[in-house]
Order: sequence, then structure tokens, then C-alpha cells
Amino acid sequence: MHIPFGDFKRQYFELQRELDDAVLQVMRSGAYILGPAVKGFEADFAAYCEVPHCIGVGNGTDAIQLGLVALGVGVGDEVITVANTGVPGTAAIVAIGAIPVFVDVDPVTRNMDPRCIEQAITPRTKAIMPVHLYGLMADMPAILAIANHHGIPVIEDVAQAHGARLHGARAGSMGAVAAFSFYPSKNLGAIGDGGAITTTDAGHDELLRKLRVYGWERKYYSTVDAGMNTRLDEVQAAMLAVKLRYLDASTARRVKIASYYCEQCADLGLILPTTPAGYEAVYHLFVVESAHRDTYMTRLKAAGVSTDIHYPMATHHQPIYKRYAPNGGLAVTERQAQTVFSLPNFPELTDSEVEFVAQTVRSVAATIEAK
Ligand SMILES: Cc1ncc(COP(=O)(O)O)c(C=O)c1O
Repeated sequence: MHIPFGDFKRQYFELQRELDDAVLQVMRSGAYILGPAVKGFEADFAAYCEVPHCIGVGNGTDAIQLGLVALGVGVGDEVITVANTGVPGTAAIVAIGAIPVFVDVDPVTRNMDPRCIEQAITPRTKAIMPVHLYGLMADMPAILAIANHHGIPVIEDVAQAHGARLHGARAGSMGAVAAFSFYPSKNLGAIGDGGAITTTDAGHDELLRKLRVYGWERKYYSTVDAGMNTRLDEVQAAMLAVKLRYLDASTARRVKIASYYCEQCADLGLILPTTPAGYEAVYHLFVVESAHRDTYMTRLKAAGVSTDIHYPMATHHQPIYKRYAPNGGLAVTERQAQTVFSLPNFPELTDSEVEFVAQTVRSVAATIEAK
């Protein structure tokens, strides 16, 4: 048996008729940019996230960049964030001339550790950006308490946590603005690039709608700076609207697979993902930790199970971002970069594939323990 880490085609074929119809409808409509499909999807996704406003953009990195601009972040301003992601948030910060200030993550949740924020705040701090990594929300109540005390806005990076909740609140509804990616592997994934920003603030909504079209207030009339061309396109929006209807079901499947892995791998000495009380994780990724990571990955691959590392190099160790490395480093982030690896977890995996993954992990663990 060969188990892929992901398989975009399976999801397409499951929804083929509806997706094909959605695309054909756009092609036949002749409305290709910011038309009814984007408008409809924005309304549906805002309702899903339980916020009044959603602005579709070209991808998740642009969503972060424009979200920061909407919060007034610019050249020389500092943004507090984490270093255990695949770098898009940092790229967005640096693209607008701002400075990423990295803080460590909590060893259990692997998300921004609120205990590290206070000492990172300076007079130049203009935003705090937690990332809801792997499908689990960061500790927003603690982060917001510190941020509100200092009058600093919070931007949520929700690229990996569509539909997650914390004490009932949806991911993307708690910060001043929130950025989503619809990259194909995401829990809600397009067939290409896509992104969105959600906000509860009508002023941010109005500004972001200008920022995504060059800064135009109306056609050929520019009133705001730092505008871009970054629009969610009609074809992607039409397909996302179809997939959104199945998001809760596909999330439930991810959660079920994750619970099964946790149950089957509980006694192997692997550090498993933890969902603290009050959190509803959506398991974008199923990430475990082991000091024997490389052996696990090699032997799993030999047995037919694909794995991946999210992420192999912390952002402050990346060649171009080393200049932002904090004094003393980031102990938890750095340790996890050496030990984390991800097992396949996507909704279209069959039960027998999921059982095969768990059994193979168990067999490999036995060979490692026997060493
Ligand atoms: C945590 C995180 N933030 C931001 C992004 C950027 O999204 P995109 O690839 O759509 O630009 C991604 C996905 O790649 C991500 O995983």
C-alpha cells in the first residue's frame, strides 16, 4: 500500500460535477473579476466565520500584507509573531518595510506563547500576529488581554485553521483583522491560489476593498496608499463556495482520523498533538514529535507511508531572515524544528489507509524501541 501525504485530485473527483458546473457558470457569465461569485462567496465565508465582513484576495500572504496595511503597519514598525511556520507571515511583514519580532511558542500548543509577548513590546510595536498553527487556535484571550492593555491590534493568521473555535468563538472573529489562505492543501482549498481577510470592523472592510484594487476608491480614482492588485478570482470563488458547503463534514473526518491516530499511537513515546479544554481543533495537519524523527520518516517511507515536516527550519534561521533572530534564540521553536513530523491526514483517506498508517507507525516504533 502507498499512502500519499495529500491528494488534491481525490477531493476534486468527489465533487467533480458541482465543481465543473460552478466553473462553467463563471465562464459563461462573462463576469471574470470581482463579480457575483466573489460577492456570494464573501457573504458565505463571513457567515461561516461569524463576522460581518470578508474580503476575497489573491492568496494568504497578500491577505496578511493587506491586513497589516489596514492596521496602519508600515516602514520601520515592529510586528510580534512566531518563527515556526513556513515564512509567509514574515515575508508579508518584510514586504511592507516592517520588522518581524519573533517570540517563542508554547511547547504543548505549539502556538505563540503569551508569556513571551510583554518583553517583546517596544514603542515601535504596531501589531501582534499569532498563527493558529496546524488547526489549533492560539491562546487568543491571553494574547488579546496583553494587546488591549498596550493598545496594539492583533491580526490572526488563520491559514491553517478554517472553522476552529476557542470558547465558542470562530478563528478569524477575534482579532482586528484575520488572514486566510485557500491554497489547495488547506482545509478549505481552492484549485489554485486564493485568500481572504475577515474583520468585524466596517472601516477596515472599506479600506481593504480599496487596497485590493490598487487603492482605488472608484475606478481610476485612488485615495489610499500601498494598494495592490490582489483579487480572489471568480473561478476560484465559485469553487470555494461549493467546497465551503462540505467544510464541516471534511473537518469532522480530519478530527476523526486524528483521534484514531492519537488512540493508536498513545503508548509509543511520540509526543502527540494536544487540544486543551475549550478549544476545537480542525487538524489541518497531524504533527507529532520524536527525537528519532529521521528514522521514523525513513522507515515509514520504506513501508509506503509518506510524511512531511512542518517546518524543517525556523524562520529566524532562514538565510534571509537571520538578521531578525532574537538574542538567545527561541528554545522551543528550535527544538521542535528538529523533532516535528506530520502523518497523512486529509479527509479523503479511506479507513483502511488510516489503519495502515497507524499500524505502520506502531511497527516502526517497535524497531526504534528495540534498538
Ligand atoms: C500559516 C500560514 N500562513 C500563511 C500562508 C500563506 O498562504 P498562501 O500560500 O495562500 O499565500 C500559509 C500557507 O501557505 C500558511 O500555512
